[in-house]
Amino acid sequence: MDDHASRAVEPGAILLAIDPAAVTSDQIARIEEIAPGREIRIGLDADRSGSDEQRARIEIAGGWVAPDHLLALPALRWYQQWYAGAEWLVDCPEAALRDFALTSASGISAAVVVEQALGYILALHRRLPQAWSAQRERVWHKPPPERFAELAGKTMLVAGLGAIGSRLARIGAALDLRVLGVRRRPELPAPGTERVGGPGDLLALLPEADVVVSAMPYTRETRRFFSAEAFARMKPGAIFVSVGRGKVVDEDALAAALASGHLAGAGLDVFEREPLPVDSALWAMDQVILTPHWGAAFPGRLERTMALFLDNLRRYVAGQPLRNLIDKQRGY
Ligand SMILES: NC(=O)c1ccc[n+]([C@@H]2O[C@H](COP(=O)([O-])OP(=O)(O)OC[C@H]3O[C@@H](n4cnc5c(N)ncnc54)[C@H](OP(=O)(O)O)[C@@H]3O)[C@@H](O)[C@H]2O)c1
Repeated sequence: MDDHASRAVEPGAILLAIDPAAVTSDQIARIEEIAPGREIRIGLDADRSGSDEQRARIEIAGGWVAPDHLLALPALRWYQQWYAGAEWLVDCPEAALRDFALTSASGISAAVVVEQALGYILALHRRLPQAWSAQRERVWHKPPPERFAELAGKTMLVAGLGAIGSRLARIGAALDLRVLGVRRRPELPAPGTERVGGPGDLLALLPEADVVVSAMPYTRETRRFFSAEAFARMKPGAIFVSVGRGKVVDEDALAAALASGHLAGAGLDVFEREPLPVDSALWAMDQVILTPHWGAAFPGRLERTMALFLDNLRRYVAGQPLRNLIDKQRGY
């Protein structure tokens, strides 16, 4: 057999751009068992290191691979990213033209992101940040009942009804909220919701909502989806929560709507620029709870993502449909 022929039958290599310390020997054994005979390269800089020849052999990639490094892998057939949002596609339209499957980690952290969103909503409604400030000063501060609100019976609008939004909608319904939704394909079922519209229905639905939650991905279509006009349409005294992607929100317009008192409060985990610039007005607002994009953090995240990768590897080898497949044109 000549050199060319022997290379043609060699199974492609696997590259995992992740911290090797986070990978167990059992997990590596499982990769070898599912996809035998493949070279496996693991390392945080595995997408940058190695020779051109090594890169040319990579058929499967996982982890955090920089877009330009990804596009420099000529034999790539599948990339499992270790995170949910594929907003990098907005700045890398070439990826959609390349013939590789892209899968995300959507759903892995949906439960904790929803818990985070509920945390903001409950805390803002029950004035817990104010209670905590007073507690630190040892002040028995008891605002009048009209400064509080009962969430049950109120209306929550959830924008984006994917892994995060659909879970929030179901839990919201269980809290006796009336749940409205906005999604790209409003014809899909959405348990827990009373009514769901498409992106063009956002402005019409906003005035009905006491709580508005963005669980939207950042795509070519969603930049500043929550515009100045959207904030103007929100009910006076409404609460805005953002746990999807920051670039979906016009942050200056949000800050203005909060400063004017039009919105009563906000819970924000994601921002247009991260870290949030120190001069952002949002930092100093008492009616805002900010968290530095930690909504997806929990101890089992890497293990669960590896389990998803292993399941998808098994499917890939068997020629079965992959879970969490992203439509690269659509961007999510
Ligand atoms: N805060 C964090 O740490 C954290 C953690 C995980 C994820 N995220 C972010 O949250 C986003 C959502 O996560 P997910 O796992 O729920 O994603 P997902 O399952 O892909 O769901 C995305 C949802 O957005 C909707 N959508 C897409 N384009 C839209 C548009 N133009 N107008 C209205 N709706 C649109 C989709 O509608 P259809 O269902 O009708 O297609 C879908 O319901 C991710 O993209 C990620 O960026 C943040």
